[in-house]
Amino acid sequence: LRLFAGSANLPLAQEVANYLGIELGPMVRKTFADGEVYIQVQESIRGCDVYLLQPTCRPVNDNLTELLIMIDACRRASARQITAVLPYYGYARADRKTAGRESITAKLVANLIVQSGADRVIAMDLHSAQIQGYFDIPCDHVYGSPVLINYILDKQLEDIVVVSPDVGGVARARAFAKKLDDAPIAIIDKRRQAHNVAEVFNVVGEVEGKNAVLVDDMIDTAGTITAAAKLLRQEGAKQVYVCAIHPVFSPPAIERLSQAGFEEIIVTNTIPVPKDNHFPQLTQLSVANLIGETI
Ligand code: R5P
Repeated sequence: LRLFAGSANLPLAQEVANYLGIELGPMVRKTFADGEVYIQVQESIRGCDVYLLQPTCRPVNDNLTELLIMIDACRRASARQITAVLPYYGYARADRKTAGRESITAKLVANLIVQSGADRVIAMDLHSAQIQGYFDIPCDHVYGSPVLINYILDKQLEDIVVVSPDVGGVARARAFAKKLDDAPIAIIDKRRQAHNVAEVFNVVGEVEGKNAVLVDDMIDTAGTITAAAKLLRQEGAKQVYVCAIHPVFSPPAIERLSQAGFEEIIVTNTIPVPKDNHFPQLTQLSVANLIGETI
């Protein structure tokens, strides 16, 4: 078994390697003057089971291209089996057509990964579960929620209501609430006026006097989650916590999150958050053990 890391999340890859009790494999990565990427595996992997860890997070296109080149390099080096380990899968939100003449980019990216030579995929908290089926190879879909749930359970909060920030996240919120002693759930009626612009209207469910735990798969610009928190407070929620798997954190997420008055924002390390972007309310938990166990 060999584990190699792309450049998108080296700290997580190192943690996974530590969990497995192995060294990260040696791999050279260079960028040419024009932006082209060069990858060379620096040991023989002939006949090996190779795992390539690379979340396709920001900059999504660069990280995706690097992953495809890593897969191709390993295929041409006669690896026995290549598994793409995707703690975060970019383009997951483009999983269907919402208007005419759009691409289903989540499917296109899955095709590229398979055609590059991957034999298997390990993906974490895909935006929608059906993306598993976009890969015409085995796909293990791993959920990071146990890490978040255990953290919230340790806080021994009372009067919890688990809140989904949109209708699409209801199943996720329900599963989360079940593990929190069957806490009640509430749902926010969110509508998008344009890409990356969220507007919230109503809360369906009882939040007054409760500790609200907003649950989402990702925080991107933080528009959804901060608008939801504002509405929850207007409706009388006591404290507002956020639990999200993927800290995508595109600008202006850090400003929004640090100024929105959250009690705590709990995310995982599927995507690294640079030290400069840390703020007091942010807690980042590791999913390395979950990935290590799956490998
Ligand atoms: C939407 O369906 C997702 O689950 C997230 O709620 C959304 O992508 C977050 O985006 P933003 O933080 O930019 O509002």
